[in-house]
Amino acid sequence: MLDIFTKLAYQAFQESKGYFGLAHKTIATQVMQTVYPDLTNRDQSLSPKSIVELQKRKAVLFDRDLQDAERGIYPVEILFDNAWDDFFFYYPLVCLDSPRIWERRRNNQNQEFPANINTDGYPKYYLQNFHHQTDGYLSDWSANLYDLQVDILFNGTADAMRRRILAPLVDGLKRFADDVPAHQTRILDVACGTGRTLKFVRSALPQASLFGCDLSAAYLRKANQMLSKEPGLLPQLLQANGEDLPYVDNYFHAVVSVFLFHELPGQARQNVINECFRVVQPGGQLIICDSIQLSDSPELEAMMAGFFKNFHEPYYREYIHDDIGQRLTDAGFEDVSMETCFFSNYWVAQKPIEPIEPIEVKQARDNAGLSKELVGSV
Ligand SMILES: C[S@@+](CC[C@H](N)C(=O)[O-])C[C@H]1O[C@@H](n2cnc3c(N)ncnc32)[C@H](O)[C@@H]1O
Repeated sequence: MLDIFTKLAYQAFQESKGYFGLAHKTIATQVMQTVYPDLTNRDQSLSPKSIVELQKRKAVLFDRDLQDAERGIYPVEILFDNAWDDFFFYYPLVCLDSPRIWERRRNNQNQEFPANINTDGYPKYYLQNFHHQTDGYLSDWSANLYDLQVDILFNGTADAMRRRILAPLVDGLKRFADDVPAHQTRILDVACGTGRTLKFVRSALPQASLFGCDLSAAYLRKANQMLSKEPGLLPQLLQANGEDLPYVDNYFHAVVSVFLFHELPGQARQNVINECFRVVQPGGQLIICDSIQLSDSPELEAMMAGFFKNFHEPYYREYIHDDIGQRLTDAGFEDVSMETCFFSNYWVAQKPIEPIEPIEVKQARDNAGLSKELVGSV
């Protein structure tokens, strides 16, 4: 049971991050509108009902974060984790970067990469200044500012949202506990970015073998810097496209992915899910955390509209209509569930334990009108 002081300290910590994010955005918007009066934030005004709904959802998010620490899913200290060095060092640069962001926004420059950044070999959909970020995902500058920018965007709730994947992850891995020693449990984070989620997975599962991949070498460098300070084995980080994972079939006991899917076009979303299915073991889980969608949160439609209009999120408008559950089923996953918490949805899906029939065998069997059982008994 967490004591009252820990709970109050957590409340105060989260509230201060929330007020900081709000203050930053309010001041930045005022400065932006003074410098560029023609640049306004569109569709941002939330109805009083939406604001109340968001407050309620945020309270649930924080309650669950506390409860999971209380249940021992992760250590209490992680509730207070914050990259303070980065905050003091890079926050001034976040402010200095703002005029460049406004300039790009104003001029609709959404695919702007300086000549010294090599853009060869990346998928075309990836070469974007997502959230108007300077250099997209392709520089150390961007990697250094990213975590702060995301935390400001979500008023300090980004880490609490990431931690929501840990309870289903820890629970799901229990099915391997009798057969697989803890240090041989392999977990992959697809699009691990700067490594925040891997850090939390390490705290919940200190002995597990962790793997992360991302398309951005700069973000992996940042992840490596941060994760190498953590106790325990260093996660193995690889530069790779989630659509073509460089791992053998059935290798991982669990795969997670946080805040990736809204940044992919539909076909790439399906390709990543198919690849996660291929590399996870039968009985293993894929856990996805990403933005809420229209079907689960119609009352927050204005907020979602503001998100794709004010931040450069080229695939978000399509993402909020997408049926991720259907995509998981199409890939072969079963027991697909989805839960909404605050501004994120969490999909948990399991790879069937029974071996999957290769697609060509299934087609031949279907064409011959034979049942699976009959073929199996021949
Ligand atoms: C919004 S960030 C999320 C990063 C991290 N998971 C987090 O929680 O902060 C999206 C990440 O996805 C990566 N990414 C985008 N498309 C990718 C792809 N096709 N394969 C691998 N990584 C990709 C980007 O480089 C970036 O690090």
